[in-house]
Amino acid sequence: MTQHQRLLIIDFGSQVTQLIARRLRELNVYCEIRPFNTVTDEALRADPPQAIILSGGPASVTEPGSPRAPQAVFDLGVPVFGICYGQQVMMQQLGGSVEAGHHAEYGRAFISPAPGHTGDGIFAGLFGSGREEVWMSHGDRVTEMAPGFEVIGTSPNAPVAMIADEARAFYAVQFHPEVHHTPNGRVMLENFVRLAGFTGDWTMASYKDEAIRKIRDQVGDRRVICGLSGGVDSSVAAVLIHEAIGDQLTCVFVDHGLLRLNEADEVVSMFRDNYNIPLIHADEADLFLSALEGVSDPEVKRKTIGRLFIDVFQREAGRIEGAEFLAQGTLYPDVIESVSFSGGPSVTIKSHHNVGGLPDKMGLKLVEPLRELFKDEVRALGRELGLPETFIGRHPFPGPGLAIRCPGEITRDKLEILRKADAVFIDQIRRHGLYDEIWQAFVAILPVRTVGVMGDGRTYDYACALRAVTSVDGMTADYYPFSHDFLGETATRIINEVRGINRCTYDITSKPPGTIEWE
Ligand code: XMP
Repeated sequence: MTQHQRLLIIDFGSQVTQLIARRLRELNVYCEIRPFNTVTDEALRADPPQAIILSGGPASVTEPGSPRAPQAVFDLGVPVFGICYGQQVMMQQLGGSVEAGHHAEYGRAFISPAPGHTGDGIFAGLFGSGREEVWMSHGDRVTEMAPGFEVIGTSPNAPVAMIADEARAFYAVQFHPEVHHTPNGRVMLENFVRLAGFTGDWTMASYKDEAIRKIRDQVGDRRVICGLSGGVDSSVAAVLIHEAIGDQLTCVFVDHGLLRLNEADEVVSMFRDNYNIPLIHADEADLFLSALEGVSDPEVKRKTIGRLFIDVFQREAGRIEGAEFLAQGTLYPDVIESVSFSGGPSVTIKSHHNVGGLPDKMGLKLVEPLRELFKDEVRALGRELGLPETFIGRHPFPGPGLAIRCPGEITRDKLEILRKADAVFIDQIRRHGLYDEIWQAFVAILPVRTVGVMGDGRTYDYACALRAVTSVDGMTADYYPFSHDFLGETATRIINEVRGINRCTYDITSKPPGTIEWE
């Protein structure tokens, strides 16, 4: 049972719905995102949230069959905030009208206060400079407000850009307050949650206690297995579960021989030695590397690693007597069902390596204590649990490991060179104090040898590519703008310190069109 106040976000499929949740979590408000077609009147009445936000979305309310909010949203007596499509839905369902097309507005716009309004309620604190900068993205617009509403602000193309029915605590805006490009969007969201009576009771300390209680209730005196990858998510999940049930937890660390320099030792010493968590270290480098011999197709690499991983994990888990649960570091973004209006499956760019199919195969029940958290919240929980900062702040590392940073055939020699070059690059980034600004940084060893000259001799060695990106979620990314000095110094160090590399390039592709990893 959830013990904190809860805000419900009804999702109509906007690209930025998750940002609403993130902004609210930053305000210590617990919220859940649900696709519009999974929220029923009965469920709302049975367990009413303290407030509701209706998200934006790509449909037009003027089209037959377009999404609507459950009517109970407007009958529960709780504050409601409609954003973009959410505003149009509100108007349509409460007796106003919406007009299609003709007045599209995308990007930056300025809202002026309606005569007699300086902004109060959720719009308190706005219009300090006379007008508000906002980010618009709409084709339709409201032409007639529903009874009870009044206009608070207007833009040239959206005469009812900000509206309110103070008596019912219903608010709506045509723009997106959740995006970075609406500078005072956070103020509106904060006003809304304060007005709805949220006290900001969603803190990591309270979350941790609650999660520990839940794990104890779920697991009782039975045994849990947790697959450890060395990444932040599975590590935080393991430490949390260990705090809840102690030695009823056993971790399994499948070492595929594709980890970075010293990584396997660090994982083992951290868990076994520092935390005293029972840990099985399955050192299976030979198995994985021989299966990968001669393989250069990226998908075959990924699938081979995924298949072997499951085999090894199953074998090791089978040795743990009486295990009934499998713990996973699933995060909230993996849980949110996104609303698809096209109905078609999306294209598989890469087969991601995870243990998603395991529980069914092994007949295990799942323990997923991070299901409600975003990545940065997992880090905050890790801190709360006392995990070292160097560990918590670590860049993400993909399940298939160095295999996908070694385009072409993987050999032990190449892996050895790659590990050393990668360690130098990361050391450079840390020395220059840039590690935390970067989402992910690594070296890829290229399947190309080039001619160079060192001392008086000719070299014929591998070329490598440095990759460093900024990102908020790994979905889109920009290359990191290192200075030329930094790049020059790093290339010199790699070439001097790592035998086997005589040329260094910097990858300046963003995502899209590239991806973060090379394969
Ligand atoms: P791409 O290369 O698709 O990567 O732009 C986006 C993010 O996902 C990570 N990644 C993976 N993580 N299993 C994982 O757990 C995988 O198979 C996998 N492939 C890519 C990648 O490192 C980046 O952070």
